[in-house]
Amino acid sequence: MSVKILALVGSLRSGSHNRQLAEAARTLAPGDVEIEIFDGLGDLPFYNEDIDTEADVPAPATKLRDAANAADAFLLFAPEYNGTIPAVLKNAIDWLSRPFGAGALSGKPTAVIGTAFGQYGGVWAQDETRKSAGIAGASIVDEVKLSIPGSMTRFAETHPADDPEVAEQLTAALGKLQANISA
Ligand SMILES: Cc1cc2nc3c(=O)[nH]c(=O)nc-3n(C[C@H](O)[C@H](O)[C@H](O)COP(=O)(O)O)c2cc1C
Repeated sequence: MSVKILALVGSLRSGSHNRQLAEAARTLAPGDVEIEIFDGLGDLPFYNEDIDTEADVPAPATKLRDAANAADAFLLFAPEYNGTIPAVLKNAIDWLSRPFGAGALSGKPTAVIGTAFGQYGGVWAQDETRKSAGIAGASIVDEVKLSIPGSMTRFAETHPADDPEVAEQLTAALGKLQANISA
C-alpha cells in the first residue's frame, strides 16, 4: 500500500537542522512512502477563532488543512525553544485541531522527532508536541522517539542524510510509523 506522510517542521530558518532531518527522512523513505515537507507554516496567522469561520478561512490555513487531509500520517519535527514546543509548530497544530472533533489530525498516526542543541535533543519539546497533537486528535505513535542532541555542532558540516547513525535511526522511525499506518 502506498502511503503519504506530511512532514511539519517547527523551524522556519533556512538552515534549519530539523528541516534537514525532514529532507533526510524524505530521501530515506521506501518507495511506497511519499513524504511531503509542508512549506508555508510561516505564512499561517496566529490561530484566532474570529478568522476561522465557515464563511472564510485564511488561504494559508486552507493550504495546510488540504495537505493534512490528503495525508495518511504525520511526521512532526520539533526543535526546542526555551524548554518547549516552538510557537510555529504549536500554531499549526491549533489550526489542524479545528473544526473541533473533525480536525485533519483526527485519528491519523503521528510521530514526533527532532534535533536541538541541548544535551537532551529537545525531548521536552517533542513530548509537548506529542501531548498537544494527541489532544488535537492525532493518534500518537509513542514507540517512535528520536531526540538528537548537539544539532548545531553535529550537523554543522554533515547533512543528517549523510550521518550513518542518524540515517539508521530515521529509517527505523519511518518503519514504525509506516507499520502504524497499515495496521
Ligand atoms: C529562541 C530559541 C530558544 C532555544 N531554546 C532551546 C532549548 O530550550 N533547548 C535546546 O536544546 N535548544 C534550544 N535552542 C537551540 C535550538 O535547539 C537549536 O538552535 C536548533 O538547532 C534549532 O532547530 P533548527 O536547526 O531546526 O532551527 C533554542 C534556540 C532558539 C533560537
